Amino acid sequence: MYTARKVTEDICFVGGEDRRLNLFENVYPVPQGVSYNAYLILDEKTCLMDCVDKSAAEVLFENLDRCLGGRGLDYVVVQHMEPDHSAALMRVLARYPEAKLVTSKKALDMVSRFFGKDLTERAVIVGEGSTLSLGRHSLRFVAAPMVHWPEVLMTYDEASGALFTADAFGTFGALDGAVFADEVDFDRDYMDEARRYYTNIVGKYGAQVQSVLKKAAGLDIKMLCPLHGFVWRKDLDLILDKYQKWSSYTAEEAGVTLAYGSVYGNTENAARALASLLRERGVKVRMFDVSVTHPSYIIASCFRYSAIVLAAPTYNNGVFVNMEAFINDLTAHGLKGRKVALMQNGTWVPNSAAGMRKLLEGAKGLDIMEETVTVPSALRDDAELIKLADALAAAV
Ligand code: FEO
Repeated sequence: MYTARKVTEDICFVGGEDRRLNLFENVYPVPQGVSYNAYLILDEKTCLMDCVDKSAAEVLFENLDRCLGGRGLDYVVVQHMEPDHSAALMRVLARYPEAKLVTSKKALDMVSRFFGKDLTERAVIVGEGSTLSLGRHSLRFVAAPMVHWPEVLMTYDEASGALFTADAFGTFGALDGAVFADEVDFDRDYMDEARRYYTNIVGKYGAQVQSVLKKAAGLDIKMLCPLHGFVWRKDLDLILDKYQKWSSYTAEEAGVTLAYGSVYGNTENAARALASLLRERGVKVRMFDVSVTHPSYIIASCFRYSAIVLAAPTYNNGVFVNMEAFINDLTAHGLKGRKVALMQNGTWVPNSAAGMRKLLEGAKGLDIMEETVTVPSALRDDAELIKLADALAAAV
C-alpha cells in the first residue's frame, strides 16, 4: 500500500506528511516535520475521514487509489475546515464525483468561503448526535466547537471504538513510517512536541476541550485517531491525562520557566544567578532567551511548570521588545494558575517590571508575586535574588 497503513482490518491511514515545511501555520517551527492524517473506512459504503494539506494531496490520492482498489468513494467527512486538512477537498470531490460531503452546517459555509462553491446539493449536514451508517460501521458525530475552530466535529465509530478527534490529541513531528503511538517512544521522542502543539494551537480553548473530554468519557473509546501525529490504541490514559492537565491549566510538574531577554548579557547573568539559587533550593528550572528561542517552546514550558519568572531590561522606557512580544503571546493563550515573578534591569530609570506588570494585566489567572528584582545595569548585590528564590521555592 506504499505509505498507507492499516489501522484496523477495514480502516486505513491514508494521510501524508511534510518535512520541508519551515513554519506550521506560518508561525510554529516544525524541525521534525508534521503529518496530515486522513483515514479511509472500507465498508458497504466507503468513507474518507478528512482530507489533507495541499503538500500531501498527491500522497492522499495515491493512497486512496490503492486502498479503494477500484471501488468508488461514497462519503467524505469533513470534521475541520482549516486548510491543513481541507486544501485537497475540492480535488477529492472532483476525483470522486459520486461522493457526498458529510459535514457541519458551519463547515459547509466555510467551504463556500474558501472555495467559492455552494455544495449544499452534495452535502449531508450532521451535528451533535447525528449518525451515519456505512454498513458494519456506524458513525456518531460529536460537536467539538473551538477545538480548534467553531465548526469542528469529532466522530465516534461504534464498530471499532475509534474516536476521530480532529486536531485534538495531535502532535508536531512526522511519523517515520509509524502510525501508532505505541510504535515509537512517544514519551521520550514526541511528548514535548505534543505539548507544544496543544498549548500553542488549542491552549486558549481549555474550557471547550474540557467539555469534549466530558462527552468522550461517556464513550467506550478503544482508539484515538487525530489529524496530526499518531493513532492511540494503547495507553490512552497517558495522553488523556495530559489533555486533562493542559486543558484545565494544571501544571504537570513543580518548577520554574525562567524566560529572559538580555541586550549585553547582564540580565542573563542575573537570571542565571537566580537559576543557581533555585537549583540550590531543589527547584527545577528551564531557562529560555526570548531573543533566541521561538515563543512556542517557552509557552509549552509555561504550561508544564508551576511558576514563571520574566526577566527583562528597560527598553525605550518600556519592556525589552522581544519580551514584550513574548508576554503578549503568553497572555493570548489564557494560561491560569501560575505564580509569576518579575526581574527588571535599567541603567537610568528601571521601568520594565512596571511595563511587564501592565502587559500581564489582562491575564487574570496569573498571580504576580510581590518580590521583584531590580538589576542596576549589572548584578552587584544578590539580596533581592535570594529573597525571590526563597519565595519561589516556597511557592512551587
Ligand atoms: Fe490541524 Fe486546526 O488544523
